[in-house]
Amino acid sequence: MALWICCRYAVMIPRNLDLFNLMLPAIDVRQARKRYGQLQALDGVDLRIEQGEFFGLLGPNGAGKTTLINLLAGLALPDDGQLSVLGHDVVKQYRASRRLLGVVPQELVFDPFFTVRETLRMQSGFFGLRHNDTWIDEVMHHLDLTDKADTNMRRLSGGMKRRVLVAQALVHKPPVIVLDEPTAGVDVELRQSLWRFIQQLNRDGHTILLTTHYLEEAEALCTRIAMLKHGRIVALDSTLNLLRSLAGCRVRLKIAGYLPATLLPQVVEQAEGDYLLTLPSYQALESMLAELRVAGTTVQEMTLQQPDLEEVFLRLVGRTVQ
Ligand SMILES: Nc1ncnc2c1ncn2[C@@H]1O[C@H](COP(=O)(O)OP(=O)(O)OP(=O)(O)O)[C@@H](O)[C@H]1O
Ligand SMILES: [Mg+2]
Repeated sequence: MALWICCRYAVMIPRNLDLFNLMLPAIDVRQARKRYGQLQALDGVDLRIEQGEFFGLLGPNGAGKTTLINLLAGLALPDDGQLSVLGHDVVKQYRASRRLLGVVPQELVFDPFFTVRETLRMQSGFFGLRHNDTWIDEVMHHLDLTDKADTNMRRLSGGMKRRVLVAQALVHKPPVIVLDEPTAGVDVELRQSLWRFIQQLNRDGHTILLTTHYLEEAEALCTRIAMLKHGRIVALDSTLNLLRSLAGCRVRLKIAGYLPATLLPQVVEQAEGDYLLTLPSYQALESMLAELRVAGTTVQEMTLQQPDLEEVFLRLVGRTVQ
């Protein structure tokens, strides 16, 4: 057992983390608040992300996701609360915490005067890394940027620029990687290669914090998810639990006979003997079938539809935008 634990954690430790840090959360946010004028962008956020997690931070436009990331990256100061990266306070120990963090920003920011390689060398320099070309080449390879190494940044397409932003975030091999909508405006091929690379980094022990509006991406990649609304966390659980506990299930039925009135509130769609019902849980299936039996209605076809994160998201966060 002890050996198993050691092996497991040996795989999870990023190359630049030491064993003493293992018990520290990768990201620890306590009662973080941030106000912009009258707007309370973050309203007492508590969040603890363990080392090695692939964590999703979801929420509608304006929920406060980027604000929280900006506080973690030291780009904005919290009005209240504490935030730390691997035990280093983002305000009091800014340099140490920033070194442990790689951030892919939501906005496309780039210097039009440099090539891709120069941009990545310069970024390495910010972290005191002089001879970093081996890693830069590896990162460019994984992000399919090798052909563009000597191309000027201003000549790149939007998707290519975003790849460079991802590469920039990784030049100093940060143990904690924050990606703020990294796949916005990115084609399917890059998305897939990007996720393969990020998943590999996660398997190597890097902690990943991802925000995305592509909920199917979050569902496939993240093991835990927090949902933010109006600057507050409204849900925080494993992806599996969120799907199980909140989405219920959908049943498509083709019946001969009538649908008992007690089941009508559950109907979402209907067309001549075909019904789509939402049930609060899989257990409710049994009582639905019992009611159909009592009514003398026969089921000709029945298919169950898996709940997805989009349904959970809409229930918790709603369709409204701030
Ligand atoms: N520098 C700023 N000055 C004033 N208001 C700001 C500033 N930055 C963010 N806000 C406001 O704070 C709120 C939260 O913004 P934030 O960018 O964190 O949202 P978000 O969840 O990242 O949204 P999106 O999904 O659109 O990226 C928004 O109402 C936004 O207008
Ligand atoms: Mg944002």
